[in-house]
Amino acid sequence: MPLTLALPADDCGQPLHRRLYLALREAILDGRLGEGAALPSSRSLAGQLGVARNTVLAAYDQLAAEGFTEGRQGSGTRVAARQQPVGTAASGPASPPPSPMGGRTAAWSATPPMLMVRDPTRPLAPGVPDLAAFPHAEWRRVLGRLWRRPPVELMCGIDPLGHPPLRRAIAEHVGRTRAVRCDPGQIMVVGGSQQALDLVARVLVEPGERVLVEDPCYGGLSGVLRAAGAVAEAVPVDEGGFDPALAERLCPQARLACVTPSHQFPTGATMGLARRLALIDWAARKGGWIIEDDYDSDFHHAGAPTASLQGLDRQDRTLYLGTFSKSMFPGLRLGWLVVPHALLPAFVAARRTADMAPAGLTQAAMAAFMTEGHFGAHLRRMRTLYGRRRSQLLEAALRILGPDLPVTAGAAGLHAILHLPEASDEAAIAQAARDHGLGCAPLGFHRVIKGPPGLILGYGNLAGWSVEDALGRLFSAIKPLIPCD
Ligand SMILES: Cc1ncc(COP(=O)(O)O)c(C=O)c1O
Repeated sequence: MPLTLALPADDCGQPLHRRLYLALREAILDGRLGEGAALPSSRSLAGQLGVARNTVLAAYDQLAAEGFTEGRQGSGTRVAARQQPVGTAASGPASPPPSPMGGRTAAWSATPPMLMVRDPTRPLAPGVPDLAAFPHAEWRRVLGRLWRRPPVELMCGIDPLGHPPLRRAIAEHVGRTRAVRCDPGQIMVVGGSQQALDLVARVLVEPGERVLVEDPCYGGLSGVLRAAGAVAEAVPVDEGGFDPALAERLCPQARLACVTPSHQFPTGATMGLARRLALIDWAARKGGWIIEDDYDSDFHHAGAPTASLQGLDRQDRTLYLGTFSKSMFPGLRLGWLVVPHALLPAFVAARRTADMAPAGLTQAAMAAFMTEGHFGAHLRRMRTLYGRRRSQLLEAALRILGPDLPVTAGAAGLHAILHLPEASDEAAIAQAARDHGLGCAPLGFHRVIKGPPGLILGYGNLAGWSVEDALGRLFSAIKPLIPCD
């Protein structure tokens, strides 16, 4: 039976001989041209298809070069032996069906899409800065300069700890603003604090290990621990944040604690000095480690800012995480991890097996943005903006939502909490807010153990709305769902 060939459409600008080669290869693989079958002569196929003979010869050469065909030109080209058609009876026993997912793959598949709950384009979305207020002109100038003529060392590899000028700028920034004690050699530039948490889990967590987490806590942390096969040991926070004494009672064997001492996520509580010192003492006694996630302390609005816990730790048992996601923008994917000296070799090795380092040019741009003073100026502007917005939100919440729906905001950061009545259906209320175009997130999403219901209201990104409009819309969305006493 003559071979009927359909040439694939030229939708990718592929040359004719390439399309003919693909069509013939397909015919061999699906069995229309079986083992030993003779291919038409190049002359007759060219005539049949209305193409130049050289086109057919080029396609035949490619098939022969890849072992699909054999035979010399002139004496006929045949489909080579062992070119078994795929998926037909001639291919012998079918390959076993893919096994159902188990173990780690199943755990990953079951991981809820935690970070996708927030929608950065919606007003009141937590964790998102005011994207419209970003100094695009300065950032563009820095990027343009670097991309026009990138330094050759940045076009090649990069130190797994990160671009040295950026590490120096970060060390200077956190030393000055957060009293972090470190030298630039301890700074590892990471792809956001989420990657820092992932590296921590890879290096420090054993499968099955119990890890102390605040409850509620950042959902991205729970995901990392679950993926590492660890057990998150929930320590309920109070108005003083994480309580080390309670944690030790709940789980005496733990040796890793993940905390947000300066602005507990999401409740906003600040951990006082006594608890900080007790936690450092705990780590020293256990030979354990403290993960300090200082995710939004660039923005402090009320009272004097509390310095980092890491700066108090003379035992060098604290890993300090920071991020540019709030101070610049989340899509930048840049943050840092201050690694204790004893852990540096392990973290550098883990980094090499992960992604080596964030893009060198992005790091260089961030370094220039900092050293040329744009970052500092941007932070000062944003502190004023967010401070004003926080006050407006607290005032307008009382007026619009009323005393039965109290809103509280920690002294720092970019979000507040709306406390819902005990009997509220938090998920339904959050959904109603979303149905009205708002991005606020349910508090329960970040809880390990069920607790009082609430909504997290981000005031960093109002997406062009006024505080009044956002709260007014929120109130009309959720009012029908608020239980009456
Ligand atoms: C407490 C906390 N930690 C870590 C992160 C992750 O931030 P990044 O964008 O730097 O990965 C977030 C993000 O909102 C957060 O709220």
